[in-house]
Amino acid sequence: MKTALVTGCDHGLGLALAEALVKRDYLVLACHYADEPGLKDLRAAFPGRVLTFPLNIGSDASVAALRQAVEAAVPSLDLLINCAGILGDMAKTIGDELDFDEMLRVYNVNALGALRVTNALCRLVAQSGEKLIVNISSEAGSIQSCWRTGWFAYCMSKAANNMQGALTQNALRDQGVRVIQMHPGHVATFMRGHLDTTAKLTPAQSAEGILRTVLDTPLPASPRPPFVDYRGETQLY
Ligand SMILES: NC(=O)c1ccc[n+]([C@@H]2O[C@H](COP(=O)([O-])OP(=O)(O)OC[C@H]3O[C@@H](n4cnc5c(N)ncnc54)[C@H](OP(=O)(O)O)[C@@H]3O)[C@@H](O)[C@H]2O)c1
Repeated sequence: MKTALVTGCDHGLGLALAEALVKRDYLVLACHYADEPGLKDLRAAFPGRVLTFPLNIGSDASVAALRQAVEAAVPSLDLLINCAGILGDMAKTIGDELDFDEMLRVYNVNALGALRVTNALCRLVAQSGEKLIVNISSEAGSIQSCWRTGWFAYCMSKAANNMQGALTQNALRDQGVRVIQMHPGHVATFMRGHLDTTAKLTPAQSAEGILRTVLDTPLPASPRPPFVDYRGETQLY
């Protein structure tokens, strides 16, 4: 049985990815930040197929504990999906009173968080059959197609997440590890602190598209990690 680890499975896209993966017969290692009922229900619905782990990707100690627990649970990881993320301020623009402490918190989660987790688990990924790392980034991290005048923490942290993916790909290419940077689309989740009803996609639709793109569709070989959306359409770095 193939194994997949997903971060940020409390609800939203991470939970939908965990569910879609277990339905594809993966053993799913689902990491949660809080203690949400959705993940408990999923675990109960698929006994023995969903292992849950507490994880704060912003904390060295929490990621080190995860590494120990995962190494004790499985010999390898076919798929690692770095999904956990936070938004930060969307309203302020240049010249406003910017909250740099908040920005550091967002950067620590969105950029360094994915790196922390990948750094801790890359050996298990390299030992697997699939050797695939997917970073849930965002079109907001694209410099070439940037249109916003704010969201500094989010956009800058996702651009850094993209660079993290490129550096990781360079470092692990010789071991056969592939990295994909993924924009999941505009998804109706709780990122904004409430359910975003303006989004067109449900988490399940986005998750299905993501898995179709990264697992079922051969993406063109390139020196950089493919940066694609849930439909497989190329995004500009
Ligand atoms: N929704 C969109 O339209 C959209 C668009 C582009 C990219 N994305 C990306 O998609 C990913 C999933 O977001 P989502 O839309 O599903 O939002 P979400 O519902 O808020 O999910 C984010 C998840 O990350 C968890 N999390 C937050 N801080 C964490 C930490 N320090 N350590 C571990 N987990 C943490 C959250 O837990 P708690 O809620 O319990 O704090 C939650 O489970 C994010 O990386 C986001 O940037 C989303």
